[in-house]
Amino acid sequence: MANVQLTQTELQAILNYTVALAREAGLLILEGSAKIRSSGAADVKKNSVDLVTEYDVAVERLVKDRLSEKYPDFKFIGEESFAAGSRPELTDEPTFCVDPIDGTTNFIHGFPYACISLGLIYLKRPVLGVIYNPFLNQLYSAILGGGAYLEQASLPAIRLPLANPPRPLPSLSQALIGIEWGSDRSLEMVEKKGESFKRLAGDPATGVVKGKMAHSLRSLGSAALNYALVAQGGLDIYWEIGTWPWDICAGVIIAQEAGCFVAGGRDAPLDNDVNERVLWGRKHFVIRKIGDTETEKGVDAQKRLIKEFYETVEDFEPK
Ligand code: IPD
Ligand code: CA
Repeated sequence: MANVQLTQTELQAILNYTVALAREAGLLILEGSAKIRSSGAADVKKNSVDLVTEYDVAVERLVKDRLSEKYPDFKFIGEESFAAGSRPELTDEPTFCVDPIDGTTNFIHGFPYACISLGLIYLKRPVLGVIYNPFLNQLYSAILGGGAYLEQASLPAIRLPLANPPRPLPSLSQALIGIEWGSDRSLEMVEKKGESFKRLAGDPATGVVKGKMAHSLRSLGSAALNYALVAQGGLDIYWEIGTWPWDICAGVIIAQEAGCFVAGGRDAPLDNDVNERVLWGRKHFVIRKIGDTETEKGVDAQKRLIKEFYETVEDFEPK
């Protein structure tokens, strides 16, 4: 039993606070992007494609300071604090889980898909998520049991998914699939991912073994925004091996509240339960809400497509 108890009213109040905080962080991200684009000043973490800038650190400091002032009893996991050695154990207590800039490579290049991803974990499951892309002024948010919403520019919030009831998704060949290269570019990883992408995109009639010839593959460069796009219904599926809890925490609850099904790796149970093992498991899959048809319930279609997907792609351990 957690020492801090969270009611629905408290979750809503935390959402209001974190939405305002994400917007404030967004201003710093925009300011930083303009400066970094001219200077190109980025440091490398584990290799030359795993990048961090002074703004990743500055945004995390801003968010961490504000959250610890307002919620002193809550714990905090952040990408940059983790990289600097702060690795708190996940308990039942409320724990913020933050990626200050998800899509750092995009942030540096000026490709307008970077965001702050601010999640809250309670009883070891994501219960609140805010994802704000300041470049497009799009804010995605959700709390457990409250639905997921998109606020764009000054328009009123729209409940997700945008199409409700959503169109059916009979097979992978009709899907638009989010994929990412991530930051591990070892030979094993590029071969396994490359082979998987080939099967998803390739035409079996021309000899692509296990080819699904999906409608297409997309790479946004931000795990959080991939989740948001699946919640919205713009992407049908997003799969990645190599993600961390801060990449996906906010996205998971936004997706679940939008009727998506979230799974871990190939052997994880298909129960849409993003517990501690799945959060830290670094293998993640999400599929959008699918409407019921006369012959199949939407949730059964989601599970069928997850199985078909995992029979198609390669499995491997992230580094
Ligand atoms: C990365 C992005 C990228 C994904 C990587 C993440 P970062 O986060 O979300 O799309 O492929 O797995 O680590 O480095 O931009 O915060
Ligand atoms: Ca980041």
